[in-house]
Amino acid sequence: MDDQKNYRATIETPIYGSKEMASPAPVDKIPQKPTTPEIAYQMVKDETYSQTQPRLNLATFVTTYMDDYATKLMNEAIDINYIDETEYPRVAVMAAKCINIMANLWNSPEKADWKAGALAIGSSEACMLGGVAAWLRWRERRKAQGKPYDKPNFVISTGFQVVWEKFAQLWQIEMRTVPLTLDKTTLDPEAALAMCDENTICIVPIEGVTWTGLNDDVEALDKALDAYNKKTGYEICIHVDAASGGYILPFLNPEKKWDFRLKWVLSISASGHKFGLVYPGLGWVVWKDKKYLPGEMSFSVNYLGANITQVGLNFSRPAAQILGQYYQFIRLGFEGYRDIQRNSMEITQYLHDQIGKMAPFENYSDDVVNPLFIWYMKPDYAKKAKWTLYDLQSTLQQSGWMVPAYTLPKNIDNYVVMRIVVRQGFSRDMADMLLADIRNAIAEFEKLEYPTQTRIAQDKMQPIKGKVYTHTHDCTDCKK
Ligand SMILES: Cc1ncc(COP(=O)(O)O)c(C=O)c1O
Repeated sequence: MDDQKNYRATIETPIYGSKEMASPAPVDKIPQKPTTPEIAYQMVKDETYSQTQPRLNLATFVTTYMDDYATKLMNEAIDINYIDETEYPRVAVMAAKCINIMANLWNSPEKADWKAGALAIGSSEACMLGGVAAWLRWRERRKAQGKPYDKPNFVISTGFQVVWEKFAQLWQIEMRTVPLTLDKTTLDPEAALAMCDENTICIVPIEGVTWTGLNDDVEALDKALDAYNKKTGYEICIHVDAASGGYILPFLNPEKKWDFRLKWVLSISASGHKFGLVYPGLGWVVWKDKKYLPGEMSFSVNYLGANITQVGLNFSRPAAQILGQYYQFIRLGFEGYRDIQRNSMEITQYLHDQIGKMAPFENYSDDVVNPLFIWYMKPDYAKKAKWTLYDLQSTLQQSGWMVPAYTLPKNIDNYVVMRIVVRQGFSRDMADMLLADIRNAIAEFEKLEYPTQTRIAQDKMQPIKGKVYTHTHDCTDCKK
């Protein structure tokens, strides 16, 4: 043991014969001595070894498959910092070309050669930038009118993704939410307008609601908003959070108007790393025209001897995703994207049909408009079942599948649902394997003599008074 004191792994040290492999991994202190790259690699690799394989993770929206050339390109650009525009000018040009392509897919009317947009780490940053621009434009108008500008608000459905809560908190902009109900599963335009006033900076419909996979009706909202703006003299605009839908609608439903063809849609954001088919983190925000991107958001930076203009919350950021996005545009073209998204939709539709036919389940919606859907337990089945969707989640995890169970947003939050997101890399054959695992799990659950722990725990929980019937309890309150 004494020789261990001065132990230092060498090139000959067998990885699993090393001291490191027999010691706890560092948690709070940097190790005193270096070790060989092989040992360090193996330790880090082993720590994530037991995790779900990314492609079996049906919880995430984010890309888990790119082809070998895309991966090679991205790996080769791993050492490029995007912000070093002077040193890597072509990367900045490539990002601008991607913004142009996105703007045109979203039917931008802008005639300029370079469209107004910004690169982001994901939709979160892109949403923030779209929201901040709407706020600054509103503030300018209020200042010009000599009116107070200290109480801005925006309107969105309760199906919002957490980024909008962050936006509200960080910029102190009141978030007004239109409740989703079982009858109104998407943003109700009239209810949204009823929440607007002179301090509303924008309304945010979502294309590909995170919780349900559905699309808000932007065209109906735009029409109603136009009449409202005419009546009130306000200029409330729309920012579309198209994190998922922004890369689905242009390819599969190009006639549907949800984008810059609509009068009040002034900005759109989307995740390049979701259905844009690029590994994380990449997002885009595009404005309908340069005039909608407030000057205060473009920072002129004197960096390494050059003046660069920057719109974004981050400074340094990886450039590899831009190469990955531009590669995908060239490699796949419009038709390649369309075919991949169509396959994802067909597989989603197939899973939706099959799961809808299973005795315990009911789909939340008959419509499948994005490659994801949710379902819950039928009320009558739930009353007798000795198991819950959380049990199904755990059982599927044993075969590597990650299919999340969760409760719906406020107002319908006593519904427990399960969600599947289908992405490139998930085939019909894999769908059949998953369905077989779900059927087997149900068959085993139905043999249970006693309720599972999660079932017992759920039965003990009291539903919130005044809320809709819960599919997870069978208590007296529910029956009232
Ligand atoms: C509708 C919506 N908006 C914003 C986001 C945040 O996206 P990102 O993870 O790209 O930051 C998501 C993520 O799921 C989303 O679904």
